[in-house]
Amino acid sequence: MAAGKAYFGSATDNPELADTVYVNGLSNTADFGQITPGNAMKWDTIEPSRGTFSYTNGDAIVSLAQKNGQKLRCHTLVWYSQLPNWVKSGGFDNATLISIMKNHITNEVTHYKGKCLHWDVANEALNEDGTYRSNVFYDTIGPAYLPIAFATAAAADPEARLYYNDYNIESAGSKSTGAQNIVKLIKQYGAKIDGVGFQSHFIVGSTPSESAQTSNMNAFVSLGVEVAITELDIRTTTPSTASAIAQQAKDYAATIGACKAVSKCVGVTIWDYTDKYSWIPSVFSGQGAALPWDENIQKKLDIYNAILNAWGSA
Ligand code: G3I
Repeated sequence: MAAGKAYFGSATDNPELADTVYVNGLSNTADFGQITPGNAMKWDTIEPSRGTFSYTNGDAIVSLAQKNGQKLRCHTLVWYSQLPNWVKSGGFDNATLISIMKNHITNEVTHYKGKCLHWDVANEALNEDGTYRSNVFYDTIGPAYLPIAFATAAAADPEARLYYNDYNIESAGSKSTGAQNIVKLIKQYGAKIDGVGFQSHFIVGSTPSESAQTSNMNAFVSLGVEVAITELDIRTTTPSTASAIAQQAKDYAATIGACKAVSKCVGVTIWDYTDKYSWIPSVFSGQGAALPWDENIQKKLDIYNAILNAWGSA
């Protein structure tokens, strides 16, 4: 599903790699040209205690991508969640937390140097109204934590494309404006930012229209960055129905069509490809069935074909 764009890909996670049927599907490069580790490169996995780095899980995903010839989006360096307690509740002063953050970024980005097409340097730094989300980095360092993080990542791997990644920024509104302000802030500090990732965790029947997504992407592109759909899934009430699936097919096509219409939209990643391993039912009780493959790792043909049509046709 790669025509005309850099990639179409899927997130994955280490426990699933024991499932042969799953891995065979993920490794089919006719479907997936890119993968993102769903958890393996987050701070609590990589540096669970100060100065102790553990790359086993992340390396397993890198190996799979290399074996398959798939691109890698690396995710994520600075995020308030899946942050170990030693950072979250550390009580560090400004200079100490900056040095902890820089050390984490430098160590991890250097370890994966040359392997990551993209790095999600910062994830979910905003509240819904577009103001900065309170987290240990913002509360201790202020908004400068963002440009410092990007500059540190750029120094460690100058070739990686550096992204800000968030949800509910897929159409115009306060939070999208806040994300555009982050791009401006990082550039004002003289640091490098190459792209913005739209997570796109959507609900069937209430996703932004294709034109709303296209014009929102263009607002970012006009600031001098590329864009990507980074975590697409479209959830519904379970058990799913034929009409929900028909609507999901349209909704997937809208997002993929928007990316296709914007030359600086470089690719689409779904947040895993099968309902068997989706994060949604554990977080949103009674919801799920969000992905193009079902719990038995069988294609939902209506959705799959809608994606192919939106993505693959010339
Ligand atoms: O690692 C522990 C394990 O030791 C423990 O036994 C088990 C019991 O619950 O939990 C395991 O941790 C889980 C972790 O995934 C790894 O499997 C956490 O509970 C669980 O909350 C965590 O969920 C992840 C979630 O981020 C956390 O926020 C999802 O798998 C992952 O798909 C999801 O991904 C995020 C993106 O990074 C950012 N955007 C939103 C997206 C969906 O929430």
